[in-house]
Amino acid sequence: MRAGAAPNPVSVVSARGRRVLLGDAGREQRRRAAEEFRRRQFVQLEGVVDPTPLVPVVDRILQAGRQLETPRIKPLSVSGTQIDSGFRFSRIDWASHPQAAQLRHLFDQEGLTALGESIAEAFRPLVELALDSPARYDRVFLLIYREGDFIGPHGLDSTGRRVNVQIPLVRGCRTAMRVTDGDTLRLAYDAPGSARLLGTGFCHEVLPVLAVDGERPLRVVVSHRFLAEDGR
Ligand SMILES: [Fe+2]
Repeated sequence: MRAGAAPNPVSVVSARGRRVLLGDAGREQRRRAAEEFRRRQFVQLEGVVDPTPLVPVVDRILQAGRQLETPRIKPLSVSGTQIDSGFRFSRIDWASHPQAAQLRHLFDQEGLTALGESIAEAFRPLVELALDSPARYDRVFLLIYREGDFIGPHGLDSTGRRVNVQIPLVRGCRTAMRVTDGDTLRLAYDAPGSARLLGTGFCHEVLPVLAVDGERPLRVVVSHRFLAEDGR
């Protein structure tokens, strides 16, 4: 393999992940996961990826510079007795970047494009079951959270038939989301090896990133977008 080429895709989806996502033995688990997704627009699967090969790829892209990142900032505001939700994080996504071609080339060169495609192929059967539709894999992009970054409760107004398959990569912090379950928000930790399917129109939040052991905290979410192709 040439230097910088995409690692073997099989090594990103764990052995357990292949069983759950692709194997006959995982059929019942896929059915239950799809059912949970349809109920909550969210489902998290534990131990399905081995993110080790993803980490250096993402690191190389982050090291290419902050100018690649699009900051997303809306301060949390308090007015009288009203608290308005806010957010602070950044995004590396060629689809919304002024230098789209350059950024896309960097994703190709560093192996993120190929890795994203291989991860998407492994998740496609579950995504299609969850959407009850054929789905088109659109692209991979990165969401970056540093110390104190967060997204307050949001998402009820998002629409469309899409799924983001997200793999969280975390260092120097313990991080989590909270996602609607019935009439409450339920905690979903960013556990190593976990992956999530996120849909639309559901309330969720990313809790603020807190430093733990002196290391500079970093939470990167590798997000793979699928679009339903049934036209509904
Ligand atoms: Fe969101």
